[in-house]
Amino acid sequence: MKTEIIKIHTKKPEKSTIRKAASLIKRGKIVAFPTETVYGLGANALDARAVKRIFNAKGRPADNPLIVHISDGTMLHLIAKEIPSHAFLLMEKFWPGPLTIVLKKKNSIPSVVTAGGDTIAVRMPDHPVAYALIKEAGVPIAAPSANASTRPSPTTAAHVIEDMNGKTPLILDGGKTHIGIESTVLDLTTRTPALLRKGKITLSEIEKIIGSVVPHTEKKNGRIKSPGQKYRHYAPKAKLILVSGGVRAVRRVMREYTASRIFVITFFEKKERYSEAFRTFVFGRKNDTDIAGKNFFSLLRRCDRGGADIIIVEEPPKNGVGDALIDRISRAASRKI
Ligand code: TXA
Ligand code: MG
Repeated sequence: MKTEIIKIHTKKPEKSTIRKAASLIKRGKIVAFPTETVYGLGANALDARAVKRIFNAKGRPADNPLIVHISDGTMLHLIAKEIPSHAFLLMEKFWPGPLTIVLKKKNSIPSVVTAGGDTIAVRMPDHPVAYALIKEAGVPIAAPSANASTRPSPTTAAHVIEDMNGKTPLILDGGKTHIGIESTVLDLTTRTPALLRKGKITLSEIEKIIGSVVPHTEKKNGRIKSPGQKYRHYAPKAKLILVSGGVRAVRRVMREYTASRIFVITFFEKKERYSEAFRTFVFGRKNDTDIAGKNFFSLLRRCDRGGADIIIVEEPPKNGVGDALIDRISRAASRKI
């Protein structure tokens, strides 16, 4: 299959391009498109055969359910039922935006989307291209991140082509995504809502609206709550080490690996401090977690392309998206210091 990449205006997406992409979706094909978090690989959520193409293209295990993206309330009621009142409070506050809500599913949704489960993850993305595509297709769009399974999530069309060349007919290139870390996932089907994946929207922001939430739970009664969380994620080819404790701690770890190609990802702006490193990348301005979140997955891919043996990442502060970022770095890491 030949993969076409079409540049698209992020604020005012060209109608003809949107029509072309939507027509592929309506015909049961897949399309990669930008959202405000990361690029998604989308298919008509009501078409089981189309959704299977996503799993094939990504090499994604069939037991890992997908997020369904909607553009309006009608689509919400088409796919979800028994929606609790606090769900509407959250939608009011955070939609469109990087919050995914897990609800009871309706029968209209084929079981391949939800990995056989009776719940469905839903989100309304805050991106004109994603919005226009869903609206023009006229159907909810199931879309995981557009990376190959276990690779870092794509934040540019170039990342998507690295993983998906020949596997999707179309990639809409809307430039670099704004947030760079995947959406927060919140389960509202349990008595007390539970945070399944950290993201830009934090636990405390959610609790301000709906009261107490069970913090990030990997397992409940021995059962994995969010299947996606059990797989090794965002794995770079190199060994990744997360280091807290600043410059001195980073330098100490570097001395352990003198013979290797060491790449350092840091907040420290005077890179000369790490002159022994093969390369040093700076996350962004000191302690700006938003910029670090935006750059992290992209930096991981650059380290891989540069042939890194070891990637040392300086731990970001916890504020804002920082907590979610630390979660993603930890999942990619083979060692934490
Ligand atoms: O920001 C995002 O959420 C991006 C963009 C494209 O929207 N999408 C994304 O999708 O990150 P994906 O498939 O890479 O991650 C979806 C996560 C997985 O951890 C999956 O297990 C979880 O959501 N999930 C999906 N449906 C679920 C459900 N019914 N119950 C619990 N967890 C669910
Ligand atoms: Mg993903």
